[in-house]
Amino acid sequence: MMNREEFVMLRDFIYEKTGIYFTENKMYLLESRLTNRLQDLGLSSYEDYYYSLKFGGEKARNEINNLFDVVTTNETSFFRNPPQLDVFKMMVQKGCCNGDMPGSPIKIWSAACSTGEEPYTLAIIVLELVEALRKNIPFMIYGTDISAKVLESAKRGVFNPYSIRNTDDKIMKKYFTGENNLFALKEQVKRYVKIDFMNLMEENSYRAYRQMDFIFCRNVLIYFDEKMKKKVIDSLYECLKPKGILIIGHAESLHNISRAFKPLVFPGTIAYQRG
Ligand SMILES: C[S@@+](CC[C@H](N)C(=O)[O-])C[C@H]1O[C@@H](n2cnc3c(N)ncnc32)[C@H](O)[C@@H]1O
Repeated sequence: MMNREEFVMLRDFIYEKTGIYFTENKMYLLESRLTNRLQDLGLSSYEDYYYSLKFGGEKARNEINNLFDVVTTNETSFFRNPPQLDVFKMMVQKGCCNGDMPGSPIKIWSAACSTGEEPYTLAIIVLELVEALRKNIPFMIYGTDISAKVLESAKRGVFNPYSIRNTDDKIMKKYFTGENNLFALKEQVKRYVKIDFMNLMEENSYRAYRQMDFIFCRNVLIYFDEKMKKKVIDSLYECLKPKGILIIGHAESLHNISRAFKPLVFPGTIAYQRG
């Protein structure tokens, strides 16, 4: 059993590394998520696990990646929250964001992409627009996450029926192969999405994601406390082009977090624009 001191040590360690804050009532959740790590490492207490993370040198670095895998919640799916995607589609169609340099690719970042459904959905939306408008729309998409396990899965690009449950049959036929239980995304979509590790807590790693037209950072801020939300949102602001757009989860808000963005209100959703 995890005792309170162990909980506090591990909670603070996880918070410092990931921004994810396990509140007091989540002690049993944290315990259950870490049980297998203790078993795999042959450790008999959560205290030993904490010390192995904190002072374990090179080995600890690998274990911290395992820790990221187990403390994150990776729920996602294709075409999640359509009103936000409609706004994205409308803006790309109108060429809202890439006006300053004609011909330069639209840069889109899915900043906590989990197993890839979000960035791949965005790629499909743009590819559909290219076809409908018969117009070349250069674009590139970055999908990043803190969990190596979900990133591996995102790179593989093979999805289960739960992931694609909101995906049109027409889109399924066009961009996926396989049937029944496994659906592999075609290379024609995958090639637009660059999947990489990126920890939103590490200030230096934002440098690789500059001049974005769109940033999707959906359903991750909910795991952070106010201080970490502010830190992440300020950094994302700096990664946008002037007039670039930030989309956060539909249940999330920038109220009390940032006044720097201009909220753009659309049916069923708000997009946040850099000034
Ligand atoms: C619930 S999923 C959301 C996936 C997708 N954005 C969506 O809305 O469908 C949250 C993701 O945030 C990632 N995450 C949590 N903390 C993070 C951090 N500090 N840096 C980067 N990603 C993080 C998790 O690994 C998880 O895959």
